[in-house]
Amino acid sequence: MAAPSGARRRPLLLLLLAVDSRNIQLCFQKGFWSFLSFLELAGLMHGASAVFVVKDGNGTACIMANFSAAFLTNYDTNSGFKNVTFDLPSDAVVLNSSSCGKDNASGPSLVVAFGRGHTLTLTFARNATRYRVQLMRFVYNLSDAQIFPNASSKEVKTVESVTDIKADINKTYRCVSSDQIHMSNVTVTLHDATIQAYLSSNSFSKEETRCEQDRPSPTPTPPVTPHPSPSPTPESPSVNKYNVSGTNGTCLLATMGLQLNITYENRDNMTVTRVFNINPNKTRVNGSCTAQLVTLELRDEDVTLLVFHFGMNATSSQFFLQEIQLDMTLPDARDPTFKAANSSLRALQATIGNSYRCNAEERLRVTEALSVNVFRVWVQAFQVEGDKFGSVEECQLDENNMMIPIAVGGALAGLVLIVLIAYLIGRKRSHAGYQTI
Ligand SMILES: *[C@@H]1O[C@H](CO)[C@@H](O)[C@H](O)[C@H]1NC(C)=O
Ligand SMILES: *[C@@H]1O[C@H](CO)[C@@H](O)[C@H](O)[C@H]1NC(C)=O
Ligand SMILES: *[C@@H]1O[C@H](CO)[C@@H](O)[C@H](O)[C@H]1NC(C)=O
Ligand SMILES: *[C@@H]1O[C@H](CO)[C@@H](O)[C@H](O)[C@H]1NC(C)=O
Ligand SMILES: *[C@@H]1O[C@H](CO)[C@@H](O)[C@H](O)[C@H]1NC(C)=O
Ligand SMILES: *[C@@H]1O[C@H](CO)[C@@H](O)[C@H](O)[C@H]1NC(C)=O
Ligand SMILES: *[C@@H]1O[C@H](CO)[C@@H](O)[C@H](O)[C@H]1NC(C)=O
Ligand SMILES: *[C@@H]1O[C@H](CO)[C@@H](O)[C@H](O)[C@H]1NC(C)=O
Ligand SMILES: *[C@@H]1O[C@H](CO)[C@@H](O)[C@H](O)[C@H]1NC(C)=O
Ligand SMILES: *[C@@H]1O[C@H](CO)[C@@H](O)[C@H](O)[C@H]1NC(C)=O
Ligand SMILES: *[C@@H]1O[C@H](CO)[C@@H](O)[C@H](O)[C@H]1NC(C)=O
Ligand SMILES: *[C@@H]1O[C@H](CO)[C@@H](O)[C@H](O)[C@H]1NC(C)=O
Repeated sequence: MAAPSGARRRPLLLLLLAVDSRNIQLCFQKGFWSFLSFLELAGLMHGASAVFVVKDGNGTACIMANFSAAFLTNYDTNSGFKNVTFDLPSDAVVLNSSSCGKDNASGPSLVVAFGRGHTLTLTFARNATRYRVQLMRFVYNLSDAQIFPNASSKEVKTVESVTDIKADINKTYRCVSSDQIHMSNVTVTLHDATIQAYLSSNSFSKEETRCEQDRPSPTPTPPVTPHPSPSPTPESPSVNKYNVSGTNGTCLLATMGLQLNITYENRDNMTVTRVFNINPNKTRVNGSCTAQLVTLELRDEDVTLLVFHFGMNATSSQFFLQEIQLDMTLPDARDPTFKAANSSLRALQATIGNSYRCNAEERLRVTEALSVNVFRVWVQAFQVEGDKFGSVEECQLDENNMMIPIAVGGALAGLVLIVLIAYLIGRKRSHAGYQTI
C-alpha cells in the first residue's frame, strides 16, 4: 500500500498550535453549501482519494484513512467576500506531527498537509467500545494566491469542530455518502471515506461501522419468512392550499396533495413499505420567508415535522425545492423515531415570478427509505404578484403526455391537408381536360 509518509514541512507544525478557540463551532447541521459548484478551481481539482497512514515507532499503523475531501469557505477581498471551493489534492501528505497518541493523555491524530501551508487534522478519542474523530481542525493560509486570489488578508486561519465520525473499536468507519463537517466559515465534505484508528494490524478491518448517512442499508428480506401483505396503496391524497406569508407578503403559493412512502424495519425485523397520505384537515401549517429561503412546515398527529425548503439560484433566476426533512413516529417500527432529510434536491423548478405545475404524480426520492409523492402540484416561491400564480411552466411529465395528442393531431392535420391538395390538383386537371375538348 503506497502510503504518503511524513514529509518535512517544519513551519506547519507551528501553525497547528495557533488554535483560535473562538472559532470552535459545535454544529452538525447540514447546510446548503453543497449546492455550490465545485468547478471553480478546476486546475487544482483531482478529488482523488488517497490513503493516509500514521505509524508508531515500530512501524505499526495506528491510523489509516482513505477519503476525498472538498472544502468550501469564504474570504475577504477588496470587492467583498468571495466563496471558494477546492479539493484535497492528490499530492497531500501526512505530516510527522501526526501521532499514535500517548496512553490516555492524548489521542492519536492524523495531520494531512497540502498546498502552501494548509493542514487538516483529525484527532481521535476512544472509550471501551467506540472511537471517534473527536476534533477536526483545518488551518488555512490566505496568502496562498492559487486558492485565495486577491485575498485582502494574508493571515493563517484556524477553524475546528467536533464531528459525527465514529465507529466500533476494531471496525472500520465507512461512509460512502458525503459527510459534511461545518467549522465556522469552512465546510469540509468527505466523500467515500474509509477511516480506522486504534488499529491492531496494518490494514483496515473487514468489519465496518456504517455512517448514519449510509443507513438504512437495504436489508435483504429473508425469502422464507412470510411477507406481511403489502399495505394497499391508499387513494390519492387530498389536494390542499399551503401558502406562506412573511413581512413582505406572500412568498409561497402552493396547492398539492402529499403522500409519504416510507420503507423501514418493523419489530419482527421485516422490511415493510408504507404509504401515508397527508390529511390537510388534520395538518398544522407554518412557514417563513427570507430573501434566500422559503420554508413550509407541516405537522400532524403522526408527522412530528415535515419541512420543505425552497431555494433559489439568483444567477439563473430559478426557484426550486431544495430540501425535504421528515421526522415522524412509526409505532410498529423497530426504531419508532423515523428521520430522513435530503438537502440537495432540485425539484419543482421554475423561473422566479412564474409558477411550476404538474398534473402527473411526481415521486421525489428523499433517501433510500423515504420518497414524497406529490399530486397535482402548482407552486410558486419567493416572488408572488398579487397573491396569484404567474405564468405556468409545465412539468416534463405533463409535456410528454401532451406530446401524444399533439402528434396524433398533427398527423391527422397532415392527412387532411394531403387529401385536400390531392382533391384540388385533381379538380384543376379535370377542368383542364374539359377545355381541350
Ligand atoms: C519530523 O521531521 C523533521 C524534519 O525532517 C525532523 O527533524 C523531526 O525529527 C521529525 N519528527 C518526528 C517526531 O519524527
Ligand atoms: C457564499 O455562500 C453563502 C452560503 O451559501 C451565500 O449565502 C453567499 O451568498 C455566497 N456569496 C457569494 C458572493 O456567492
Ligand atoms: C515496539 O515494540 C516493542 C516490543 O513489542 C514494545 O515493547 C514497544 O512498546 C513498541 N513501541 C511502540 C512505540 O509501540
Ligand atoms: C481508497 O478508496 C477508493 C474509493 O473507494 C478505492 O477505489 C481505493 O481502492 C481505496 N484504496 C485503498 C488502498 O483502500
Ligand atoms: C487508560 O484508560 C483505560 C480505560 O479507559 C484504563 O484501564 C487505563 O488504566 C488507563 N491508562 C492510563 C495510563 O491512565
Ligand atoms: C462509548 O461511547 C459511546 C458513544 O460515543 C457510548 O454510546 C457508549 O456508551 C460508551 N461506552 C462506554 C463503555 O463508555
Ligand atoms: C484580482 O484582482 C484583479 C484586479 O483587481 C482582477 O483583475 C482579477 O480578476 C481578480 N482575480 C480574481 C480571481 O478575482
Ligand atoms: C465568516 O463570513 C462572514 C461573511 O460571510 C464574515 O463576516 C466573517 O468575518 C467570517 N468569519 C470568519 C471567522 O472568517
Ligand atoms: C414506495 O417505495 C417503494 C420503494 O422505493 C416502491 O417500490 C413503491 O413503488 C413506492 N410506492 C408508492 C405508492 O410510491
Ligand atoms: C376534509 O374536510 C372536508 C370538509 O370538512 C371534507 O369534505 C373532506 O372529505 C375532508 N378530507 C379528508 C381527507 O378527511
Ligand atoms: C423585504 O423587502 C425589502 C425591500 O425590498 C428587502 O430589503 C428585504 O430583504 C425583504 N425581506 C425578505 C424577508 O424578503
Ligand atoms: C445557478 O445557475 C447558473 C446558470 O444556470 C449555474 O451556472 C450555476 O451553477 C447555478 N448555481 C448553483 C449554486 O446551482
